Amino acid sequence: MTKQKRRILTGHRPTGPRHIGHLVGTLESWVTMQNEYDAFFLVADLHVLTTNYMHPECIQENILHLLVDWLTAGIDPDTSTLVLQSALPEHAQLSQLLSMLVTVARAERVPTYKEQIQELNLKPSLGLLTYPVLQSADILLYNADAVPVGEDQLPHIELTREVARRFNRLYGETFTIPEAHVLTSEASRLPGIDNRTMHTSYGNAIFLRETPEETERKIMEMYTDPNRIRATDPGTVEGNPVFSYHDIFNTDKTAIEELKKRYRAGKVGDVEVKQLLAKAVNQYLAPLRARRAELMHRSEEIMELLLEGTEKARPIVQHTLAVVQEKMGLRSPLHEPYNLNQAAFQQSLRRNPLGFI
Ligand code: TRP
Repeated sequence: MTKQKRRILTGHRPTGPRHIGHLVGTLESWVTMQNEYDAFFLVADLHVLTTNYMHPECIQENILHLLVDWLTAGIDPDTSTLVLQSALPEHAQLSQLLSMLVTVARAERVPTYKEQIQELNLKPSLGLLTYPVLQSADILLYNADAVPVGEDQLPHIELTREVARRFNRLYGETFTIPEAHVLTSEASRLPGIDNRTMHTSYGNAIFLRETPEETERKIMEMYTDPNRIRATDPGTVEGNPVFSYHDIFNTDKTAIEELKKRYRAGKVGDVEVKQLLAKAVNQYLAPLRARRAELMHRSEEIMELLLEGTEKARPIVQHTLAVVQEKMGLRSPLHEPYNLNQAAFQQSLRRNPLGFI
């Protein structure tokens, strides 16, 4: 008998196209992990509404962009399962049940909640407050062993573990306590072309979907050492995003060392360093662009992959929810599958006359 693979579940909100920060920070790790684990990748469309409920018109398009970017990056729908959160009502249902076990004070202490309120300057909705509870439901429905995420998501995994422990203590062993698998690398905080953290909405990102020419143009505009006026001035390599990029994307390590030496000595201009970088980044992205070219104009097939994955997930989440309902005292003959047909329903009443009232 083959040993069962451990399960991972992770996901993104469909908020817009993925950039090279997502690629080297998370997607590449997901791609590696999908072979070792039973992997579920969740398109967390419900979560989008926690802050963006006033823009429903973007969501469907962004779902498609997200999927194309994931597939471009190497997520393999033959080995992994792609799931659409809102198509499985069990996500919302379990979230509501778990919310009974989380105090308002605890939810308010989640640092991402406080940050979002400050950053977006918004009046928080109940939906935003329960964001991490919905995320807990996402993870626990699948009994995931591990959740590969960036460091920013750690408070949500911590809450998930607390809720799972609390549930197990109250109602008996039910959930696997999931572990955060933190994706840390120097690449996980890739600077944008303006040296702030790369972000979809900051106007500083290099997107996976852009052409080599667009990528080159952005790289030629990149922030470098601000104290260096002329190419003959000695330059600083540390903290200089052009060299952070070279370290990640340029496969010719000796050439990088040579370039750094010349930069420090004031023997190379920014333009040459950037031209070499544009070439390296475009080389790095070439296989992704080839995959993308194959995916273009196949949006129906891509949505089909999402549908297949979601249907594969459905019995898993239905099972978990039924167990939770049972343990929380909500399971009666009126519930699925008993009410699927009248005969079975009548029979279940006879078997279990006190099952409801
Ligand atoms: N909150 C995650 C993010 O913004 C997305 C997400 C939703 C998620 N549900 C999840 C990640 C479950 C891991 C597991 O990136």
